Amino acid sequence: MIELKVNGRAARVEVDPATPLLYVLRDDLHLHAAKFGCGLGQCGACTVLLDDRPVFACLLPVGAIGHRAVTTVEGLGSADAPGDVQQAFLHEQAGQCGYCIPGMIARAEALLRRTTTPSEDDMRAAMAPSLCRCGTHMRILRAVRRAAAARGGGVVDPAEPVA
Ligand code: FES
Repeated sequence: MIELKVNGRAARVEVDPATPLLYVLRDDLHLHAAKFGCGLGQCGACTVLLDDRPVFACLLPVGAIGHRAVTTVEGLGSADAPGDVQQAFLHEQAGQCGYCIPGMIARAEALLRRTTTPSEDDMRAAMAPSLCRCGTHMRILRAVRRAAAARGGGVVDPAEPVA
């Protein structure tokens, strides 16, 4: 039996400790936002927050989590009440197929918990591990700038100002 804290709630799962967190989230806890893309830590589709840091859930054995808090995009808002980062992504129409977006939002959330005034380079570096095959990266970056501004900060020397 493994005990977890996911999106602020306690959860217990009966799985092998070596099971990737992503499988537990999707198959046991029915949280389907984080996606399986590569399974190799190369695409970022599975990104969730572990405490305040972004992690590849496809690579993280659930038995290694311990008392750290797991947050998925379901824990950052809902369709009826989207969180501020989700609102920024919607405003900028940052999703195309949408497969990468939960990981992108998790990564943006981690960045903005660290600082609401990242430099343009810091923002791009923070978002770089997540890939978008549709090519909406520029809209995604606009959404992160918008979310930073919504938290009272902003990207320092942005390549594009928030409109
Ligand atoms: Fe985890 Fe690609 S599915 S990084």
